[in-house]
Amino acid sequence: MPIGIIGAGAIGQALALRLLAAGRQVLISNSRGPDTLHELAHALGAGLKPASVPESAAEDIVILAVPWRRLPAAVAATGVADWGGRIVIDTTNPLGPPDFKVADLGGRTSSEVVADLVPGARLVKAFNTLTPAVLGADPRTPAGRRVIFLSGDDAGANTRITRLIQHLGWAAIDLGPLAAGGRLQQFPGGPLPTLNLILQT
Ligand SMILES: NC(=O)c1ccc[n+]([C@@H]2O[C@H](COP(=O)([O-])OP(=O)(O)OC[C@H]3O[C@@H](n4cnc5c(N)ncnc54)[C@H](OP(=O)(O)O)[C@@H]3O)[C@@H](O)[C@H]2O)c1
Repeated sequence: MPIGIIGAGAIGQALALRLLAAGRQVLISNSRGPDTLHELAHALGAGLKPASVPESAAEDIVILAVPWRRLPAAVAATGVADWGGRIVIDTTNPLGPPDFKVADLGGRTSSEVVADLVPGARLVKAFNTLTPAVLGADPRTPAGRRVIFLSGDDAGANTRITRLIQHLGWAAIDLGPLAAGGRLQQFPGGPLPTLNLILQT
C-alpha cells in the first residue's frame, strides 16, 4: 500500500528515499502541484508518484512534512474533514519560515496542536529529530541501526509505525503518548532533537 507524503522538501524527500529503498510506493505532493514534481520522481525512481495534496492524503498512512506556518493551509488543501482512524505522521517542528520564531503552543506539545488539525486521525510524531541528510542516509550502519523516536496517543498506531520504521531499517523507540513523548522529541526544548543514536544489534 503506498504512503502519502505532503511536503516534498528536505524532510519529505529524505523519507521518500528511505521508503523507496525498502520497496514502498510513495505519493508525494507540494503546494504547487504534481507537474512540479516530475524531476524529483525522475531522480528518485519509479516508486515515487507525483500527486495532488488530496491524493497524498487519501492513503492509509499520511506523512506531514511542511513548515509549521504552512500546516493549516496544507491540511485544508487535503479536503479531509474526518480522517476516520487513518494514521498521520507529524514530522514538523513548531518554528520555521518566514521568521523562525517559535510558535506559542499554550503549554501543549506541538503534535497535540497538529492533532487538532486532523480530526479523527491517529497522530504519530516521528522523524522530526534528525537533519534531512542523516534521515535520508542508510539507517543500517556497521555499528548497528540508527534510532528513530516516535510518540502518539493510540497504542495501535504506535505499534504499526514502529513496525514501519523497523521495516525501513531503523531501530524504533516508542516514547508513549504525545504529552510526554512528544515533549522529549520537541524542537526546540526537548532533549532528543539532533541526537544521532545507533542501537547496537
Ligand atoms: N529541515 C530540517 O532540518 C528539519 C528537521 C526535522 C524536522 N523538520 C520539519 O519538517 C517539516 C518540513 O521541513 P523541510 O525542511 O522539509 O521544509 P522544506 O524543505 O522547506 O519543504 C517544505 C515542503 O512543504 C511544501 N508545502 C508548503 N506549503 C504547502 C501546502 N500548503 N500544501 C502542500 N505542500 C506544502 C513545500 O511545497 P512548495 O515548495 O510547493 O510550497 C515543500 O515541498 C517542517 O515542519 C520542519 O520543522 C525539518
